[in-house]
Amino acid sequence: MGSRLSFEVKAKDIGARVGLLEIGGKKIETPALMPVVNPRREVLSPRELREEFNVSAVMTNAYILLRDEELRGEVLDKGVHGLLGFDGVVATDSGSFQLMQYGNVLTSNKEIIGFQNKIGSDIGSFLDIPSMPDAFKARAEEQLDLTLERAKEARGVADFIVNAGIQGSSYLDLRARAAKEIGEDFRLCAVGGIVGIMEDYRFSDLVDIIATVKKNIPLDRVVHAFGLGHPMVFSLAAALGCDLFDSAAYALYARDGRYLTAMGTLHLDNLSYLPCCCPVCSRYGLELKELEGDEKVRELARHNLYVSFEELARVKQAIHEGSLWNLLSVRLRSHPLLLSALQSLSEHGEWLSTLDRITGKSSFYHLGPEAEHRTEVINVRERLKRVDSKRTIKMPPFGDVPVELSSIYPFVSYMAPDSVGREEVYAQVRDIDRLRAMMDYQFGSGAGSLIPERVRIKNSRRTGRMRWVYLDGELFASLRASDNWIIPKEKMALSLREKFPYPLLRVSVDDEAKPFVEEGKSVFCKFVLEIDDNLRCMDEVLVVDKDDNLIRVGTLHLSPREVMDYNKGMAVRVR
Ligand code: GUN
Ligand code: ZN
Repeated sequence: MGSRLSFEVKAKDIGARVGLLEIGGKKIETPALMPVVNPRREVLSPRELREEFNVSAVMTNAYILLRDEELRGEVLDKGVHGLLGFDGVVATDSGSFQLMQYGNVLTSNKEIIGFQNKIGSDIGSFLDIPSMPDAFKARAEEQLDLTLERAKEARGVADFIVNAGIQGSSYLDLRARAAKEIGEDFRLCAVGGIVGIMEDYRFSDLVDIIATVKKNIPLDRVVHAFGLGHPMVFSLAAALGCDLFDSAAYALYARDGRYLTAMGTLHLDNLSYLPCCCPVCSRYGLELKELEGDEKVRELARHNLYVSFEELARVKQAIHEGSLWNLLSVRLRSHPLLLSALQSLSEHGEWLSTLDRITGKSSFYHLGPEAEHRTEVINVRERLKRVDSKRTIKMPPFGDVPVELSSIYPFVSYMAPDSVGREEVYAQVRDIDRLRAMMDYQFGSGAGSLIPERVRIKNSRRTGRMRWVYLDGELFASLRASDNWIIPKEKMALSLREKFPYPLLRVSVDDEAKPFVEEGKSVFCKFVLEIDDNLRCMDEVLVVDKDDNLIRVGTLHLSPREVMDYNKGMAVRVR
């Protein structure tokens, strides 16, 4: 119970992660979208979803299966996978959505949990109670208390991974309490009761709710955004750390003749052009409008899924290359109310910046005033305080940036509407001064003093940039080609350890892990004793034992809080 779920982070950007989720041996790459299949009126069959969209998980409704006599017999007989003809992950919902729509349901928490056990759901839900976005607080609180009781009831009796609903309406104190309680007991946490918020385009509230939930659950919890199926919000929700989405929207919207795009919803009847080249739009063109009945719904649903999966792929690519903020800056300008999410994001910037990575290869595009509040900017400004320089370049929103840092991320790839050539400036700086400033920036004030005048710097023949630093004939550091980041060798690592007291720059590990780390194996989260909070994902860190003996140097794979929250997966990639 709960033991069959594992989740490992592969790549990170802002609060987003690309992860590998395994449920009962079945793998899902996250962020993932689970199309909702209505067993009574399938628009596309799970098999078609698998064949055409390579879908690895679908969601269906256990309450519908329970209440429909014919389907109930069939699903109890064949199991939910047999019924759907789908051997991937099948998630089921409990009737909470119907509860929200109709005010009551004809089942109990116990019954619907038992039913999901019987039909073999991989993921299931208890009967959480989604409160209305503007419910009175007393009502929302009452509904939350009942939801939390039902969560307790599910614990220990569910044979599936519980998709544990976190409710609390728009009241952030209620959301925080719910998240703390649910986050303690369940590995898959669902932000519930947000469909109405999404329908009303209250994106700023959506940000506050998701951020509040994330701040109050351990970071290794997989987070599902219940009913968030519109591609226009995937980048936003992913940036806040949502891993799973479910979409009934592709089919429901299709029934209304609504045509999804990553920038918002269009109505097919109003279109004189189709702004899409998916197989459906390519094949039919405007004749899509002339189709009728089920065929029209089906084809429109296929288009809706194509754009949804396209956007999801775009988000994952952005996480991989570290350009999610660039994507957000574009997406959040699709609608004025989406732009309001930028304001809320900025209010959570301090928190989000602790999750973000400190270096990367992507370009930094200054695309508008929100750049001031980007997590990279918050982190960079903090680090710039460590560096003292007489010659600076103006780079809004970072402020005055020492010329010595012009070759590292994000300054090297900084682009603003009025960007001027920096190559010239680069040529005017002595390599050793650049190196010292970069040391201060990466490791802390005074780290630059560890570079004596006598070091020998070798440059890359191809790029002309610094590549190796020798001290007294020994390799002291190298510079990573992709982002010019300083990679300390043993001697430098020892000097850093000397210069900066414990726990600065450190990840300390259990004695049990020491022999493996000595061999160059990765440090796993569960062996970490302590970590310096000032570190950021992608920083170079000193791996030490409990007595502060240096074991190795490595690259931090997660943020410090994630390292402490995770029991599984890599914390430091050791060189
Ligand atoms: N579907 C849409 N919203 C919700 C929710 O809050 N809880 C559950 N269980 N299902 C949902
Ligand atoms: Zn299309």
